[in-house]
Amino acid sequence: MSEHAMFMKRTIRCGEVREAHIGQEVVLNGWVHRRRDHGGLIFIDLRDRAGLVQVVFGPEDSVTALEAAHDLRSEYVIAVRGTVVRRPEGTENPELQTGTVEVRVRELEILNPAKTPPFSLTDRTETDELVRMKYRYIDLRSERLQRNLRIRHEAAQAAREFLTREGFWEVETPLLFKPTPEGARDYLVPSRISPGNFYSLPQSPQILKQLLMVGGIDRYFQIAKCLRDEDLRADRQPEFTQIDLEFAFVDRDEVFDVTERLFAHMFRQVIGYELPVPFPRMTYAEAMRDYGTDKPDTRFDMKLVDLTDLAPEVEFKVFRDVAARHGQVKGIKAEGCGDYARAQLDKLTEFAKQHKAQGLVWMRVTPEGLDSPVARFLTAEQLDQIRQRFSAQPGDLLLIVADQPAIVAESLDWLRREMAQRMGLIRPMTFSPLWVVDFPLVSWNEEEKRWDAEHHPFCMPHHEDWELLDTDPGKVRALSYDAVINGSECASGSIRVHRRDIQQKVFDIIGVTPEEAERKFGFLLNAFEYGTPPHGGIAPGFDRIVMMMCGEENIREVIAFPKTQRAVDLMADAPGPVDPRQLKELHIKLDLPTQP
Ligand code: AMO
Ligand code: AMP
Repeated sequence: MSEHAMFMKRTIRCGEVREAHIGQEVVLNGWVHRRRDHGGLIFIDLRDRAGLVQVVFGPEDSVTALEAAHDLRSEYVIAVRGTVVRRPEGTENPELQTGTVEVRVRELEILNPAKTPPFSLTDRTETDELVRMKYRYIDLRSERLQRNLRIRHEAAQAAREFLTREGFWEVETPLLFKPTPEGARDYLVPSRISPGNFYSLPQSPQILKQLLMVGGIDRYFQIAKCLRDEDLRADRQPEFTQIDLEFAFVDRDEVFDVTERLFAHMFRQVIGYELPVPFPRMTYAEAMRDYGTDKPDTRFDMKLVDLTDLAPEVEFKVFRDVAARHGQVKGIKAEGCGDYARAQLDKLTEFAKQHKAQGLVWMRVTPEGLDSPVARFLTAEQLDQIRQRFSAQPGDLLLIVADQPAIVAESLDWLRREMAQRMGLIRPMTFSPLWVVDFPLVSWNEEEKRWDAEHHPFCMPHHEDWELLDTDPGKVRALSYDAVINGSECASGSIRVHRRDIQQKVFDIIGVTPEEAERKFGFLLNAFEYGTPPHGGIAPGFDRIVMMMCGEENIREVIAFPKTQRAVDLMADAPGPVDPRQLKELHIKLDLPTQP
């Protein structure tokens, strides 16, 4: 026993024992993964971060240890001393890296017994996620989360290493700050020292990284926590991590080049995958036209086909009406799905309706022509035109939606991805990156009847569009961009406004008055008057990149201590009430809604 350790300290990790160690004495520390009692012999799979190894208790090695081993249960933490031997022939386990050896135990020390765990790590997927989140520290021991956190660590290291080499400085920025507008609600922190005042937790370090550029830092990065009070989804958490980057004296191509090489380095280093570099570029307008979304999944084709120009002529009322109301008629072709039965097509129609469509026109392509409930409202010539638009072959299925452009886009985007899944077009662990560029500067908020910044208000408008700022702001394109991989927005950024006059114009459009601008961002606008380099940047969503590398569909699987859909930490029971004294100190009185 080591002089300082209070226990029999390991000489090697469980998962690292190999044939090369045969004949050696080792000490192992770990958790009891599984215990099998074969009368005279007890087998334990002992587990640590490196993996599993079989340890054997038998009378020839130590009667005392064998007897003590009867008390061992799942998740006990133990230390064993013993000899590495080759497993008897026929008992090897090819599934395990340690599968050809075992450790014959001479000495056992129970370091910590364990209550019966609320779920078994051997059938984790059977357990309700809420239970696993309450006992996250147990779930973290699972092979899946251990692998994911290792990948996350390696990805962070790869990013740091690459960016350091490229001349970026890692700078930390404060969490107690002012609002940084990224379109979500802020989390607020009351100030005790100045009663009635609040800090905002940053939705991103956006303003601070721009100030770092004014401050001459030149190239900045930070693996930054961002906090946003917004509706959560499978790829959204209230606190998440960005690899936040900002560059001075930069243009868009340079941001793209560095970001592409950063992604390529990370994918190569961590999972040995070669991302195709440079990433293809697509304008926002093209993405919306061909895919109905600004984050197209380009692992498969199935582009949207436009039939709007044919619609005014047809007898089918739905198409004609939509055309008359400046709507669109568009569709997709699902190759080889022409054998879908009525019941399946009804289900697809339901699916389209769940995604806002009023209905769905389907057309099965047969050798005789198009088989569809609406065929009788179309002439033979019109049917032939439709078939040609889609280059449709017998055996194909056409799915068509008529509506306002936003609804056509949304429903067909969903249908396209749904059909690709069904048709098996998506191969696991293949990655199809692209840039989406030239987003509109602002978008119309119909509810509040005003323009909103599409990304954030610091994006530089395209030089060619500067004149439109006064006349037709909806048409102004921004020098903003997203990196999209497999239909997921993995990074977002822009070239920034570095001139106060243009910044003021953008604020005017989105209805930020000079007084409001002064109050919210005065410090930034002032800074712009003291020598600001042209600058720009980007923020890859670190959790989403790690999700891809892990092949995970849910962001919670790549975060050590995630929150539920309702932004609750089930393990620690946060958020929770606080002591009335603390509220008093903060001069806060609660005014809660009465419980129904
Ligand atoms: P944006 O708000 O687009 O841009 O965020 C950048 C990237 O962060 C990821 N992301 C999220 N990941 C998990 N959970 C969330 N709630 C969440 N929200 C965003 C996405 C997204 O592409 N300051 C700007 C960047 C810049 O302009 O440089 C910003 O934060 O992958
Ligand atoms: P209806 O006239 O509502 O009976 O619809 C006739 C067919 O057109 C049905 O198959 C509907 O699903 C389909 N349909 C109705 N509205 C739309 C629409 N906006 N886009 C596409 N198909 C539609």
